[in-house]
Amino acid sequence: MKTSEISGFYKKSLKERLELVKEFGGLSEEEAKTLANTGALGSALAERMIENVIGTMPLPLGIAVNFLINDTDYLVPMAIEEPSVVAAASNAAKMARPGGGFQAHTTEPIMIGQIQLVGVSDPQAARLKILEIRDEILAVCNEKDPVLVKFGGGAKDLEVRVIDTARGPMVIVHLLVDCRDAMGANAVNTMAEAAAPLVERVTGGKVYLRIISNLAVTRLVRVKATFLQDVIGGQDVVDGILQAYAFAAADPFRCATHNKGIMNGVDAVVIATGNDWRAVEAGAHSYAGMGGHYKPLTTWEEDGQGNLVGTIEMPIAVGLVGGATATHPAAKAGVKLLGVQTAQELAQVIGSAGLAQNFAALKALATEGIQRGHMSLHARNIAVMAGASVEEVDEVVRRLLAEKLVRVDKAQEILREMRAGE
Ligand code: MEV
Repeated sequence: MKTSEISGFYKKSLKERLELVKEFGGLSEEEAKTLANTGALGSALAERMIENVIGTMPLPLGIAVNFLINDTDYLVPMAIEEPSVVAAASNAAKMARPGGGFQAHTTEPIMIGQIQLVGVSDPQAARLKILEIRDEILAVCNEKDPVLVKFGGGAKDLEVRVIDTARGPMVIVHLLVDCRDAMGANAVNTMAEAAAPLVERVTGGKVYLRIISNLAVTRLVRVKATFLQDVIGGQDVVDGILQAYAFAAADPFRCATHNKGIMNGVDAVVIATGNDWRAVEAGAHSYAGMGGHYKPLTTWEEDGQGNLVGTIEMPIAVGLVGGATATHPAAKAGVKLLGVQTAQELAQVIGSAGLAQNFAALKALATEGIQRGHMSLHARNIAVMAGASVEEVDEVVRRLLAEKLVRVDKAQEILREMRAGE
C-alpha cells in the first residue's frame, strides 16, 4: 500500500525525495527529469528557499515593450503562463505613449502590523493606555531593526481600534512601519511580536495574533494614463470601454473578471521580480472590497477632448531587498533590466502594467471580443498538446484557425492527415 506519510522526507536529499515521488506517482524517468530541472535557480538555492524541494516549476518569461512611465522607458519582465497577456500589455503601453505614457506615484512604503488584544473589560480605556505608551512601543519595535531605521524606515506610528467580533470586543493595535525597499513582512512581524508584551502589560489583556496585514492601505500605488481617442480607434472604442467600466462598477460578477485582468499584468511582474504575489493579490482584492462593495481597481473617464483617461489605485507591497528578489538569479536579472532603484519605483511599474492590461482587455472586449486575439496562441498550445513537432506546429495552427475549431481532437486529426501526406 502506498502512503503519503513519509517521515523525515525533509532530511532526504533532493535525489532521494525525487526517487520516492517518482515511485509514488508512477512517474517516468523523463517526467522525473523534467521535475528535477532546477534551471536558473539551481538546486542548492531552491532548497534554501523552501522545504522538501524536488525541482522547480518554470514559467515563460516575456518582456513587455513600449512602457513609458514618468518619462522613463522600461522593458518590463512578465512571468506568466497565459497567452496574450504580454502582447496586450505591450500594445496598450504603445497606445498610451502619444498621451504621455503613464504618470505614476506611490504613498510612502508603510505596512500595517496587527496586534490582537482580547480579555479586557474596558476596551476603550485599554485603547488609550496603549496610545499613551506609543513612543515606548515604537522604540521597542525600532530596536529590532536598526538597519531599516538607518535607511529611514522603521515603526513610525500607532493606531488602535476597538472592533466587535463574535467573541466580543477586541482591541486591535496597528503598527505603521515604513518598510523602505523591503516588502516588510519579516520586519513587521518581528516588531508586532516585540510590541505585544508592552500591550499586555499596560492593559492586563491577552495578545493572540501578531502579524502583518496584507490590506496595505498605507502602501498604495496610483497611476494615470490618457489614451488619445484617435490612437485607440475613435469615439466608439471610448464609449465601449466606458460601458465596460460601468458594468464592472455596478456588478461584482463582472468586477471580479475586470480585476482579474488587471492582476494578469500585476502578478506577472510581481512574479518576474521574485515578489510575493499572494500578498499583492490579497491586498488588491481586499482593497477592492473596502466599504462593503467590491469595486474595480481602475477607473475610466472621458476627458474634455474626448480622450480616454484611466487610473488605477491599489496596494502593492513589493520589495527589492530580502526574499527571492535578492536571491533568485532570474528575479535579480529582471530587476536589473527594469533598472528600478526603489521598491516604490517597482510598484509604479507594476501598477502601470495593471492599468495597461485592463485597458487592453476592455478594448478587446468592447470591440472585436477577446477570443480572436487569444485564438492563435491558444491554437499553438493545442497543437503542442496534440503532439505536433516544432516543424508541424505552424501548419496545425493554420488549419485549426481556418476551420475555426481549436480543439485537441481536431488537432490530432489534422496531424494524422498531415502525417499520412494529406
Ligand atoms: C483573462 O485572463 C482576462 C479578461 O477576462 C479580463 C477582463 O475580462 O477584463 C480578459
